[in-house]
Amino acid sequence: MITNFTYCHVDVPGYQQFAKEIYKRLPKSFYESRHGFWMLPQIFFQGIPGFRAAIEKFGLWENLEQIALIVNHPNRTLEEFPIHTDLANLAPLALNLPVYNCDDENIYTGFYQPIRELNKSEVTHGSTTDAKLYAVYPEHLMKEVDRYYLIKPVIMNTLHPHTVINPTKRLRLGLTVRWVDDCLEKWLKTNGFKFDKV
Ligand SMILES: [Fe+2]
Repeated sequence: MITNFTYCHVDVPGYQQFAKEIYKRLPKSFYESRHGFWMLPQIFFQGIPGFRAAIEKFGLWENLEQIALIVNHPNRTLEEFPIHTDLANLAPLALNLPVYNCDDENIYTGFYQPIRELNKSEVTHGSTTDAKLYAVYPEHLMKEVDRYYLIKPVIMNTLHPHTVINPTKRLRLGLTVRWVDDCLEKWLKTNGFKFDKV
C-alpha cells in the first residue's frame, strides 16, 4: 500500500482531443442515470486516434483491468458518493482523465484522513458485489488533507480515502484507467516521484 501519496498531475498527450471524442461517443443513458460508474469496453476506444498509444505511455494495453466513466452528478450528496477507498483487489493507483466539465474550479477530488483512530464498526462497506472490499468512511470523523482538480490527467491513490465534490449545477465526467499490474507505481518512480511503500 502506498502511504504518503495522494495524487500527481501527469501529461497524457492529446487528452483534450480524447475528451471530445469520448463525450461524442457516449450514449446519453450513461449520464442521465443516477449511476456514477460505467465500465467501457476497449472497443469503445478503437476509433479514437492516438488513445491507445497515449495510454501505453504508462502501461501495457493488454494489462488493462478496466476503463470506466465516472459520472459526478450535480449536487451529489456524500450519502450517494461517500468518502471511500476503492476495491482493494485492484492495483491502488488509477490514471484519471478529464472528459466533460472538468475545468470548473468548484469541482474537485478531496482526500481525507480520520481525526482519530476509527473502530472497525465505523468503517462500513459498499453495496457492490465486492462489498467487503469497498470501504466507506464516516464524514464527520474525517478531515480533508489534500485535493485535486481534474483540469488535466492525474495519477491518484485510490486506497487513500477520497470522494468527488460537485456542488455545481453541472454534470462532470471523468475517465478512470486501471491496470492489473503496478505499472503506474513503476512509472512514477522512474519519473522521479518519491513516496514510501509499506
Ligand atoms: Fe474512488
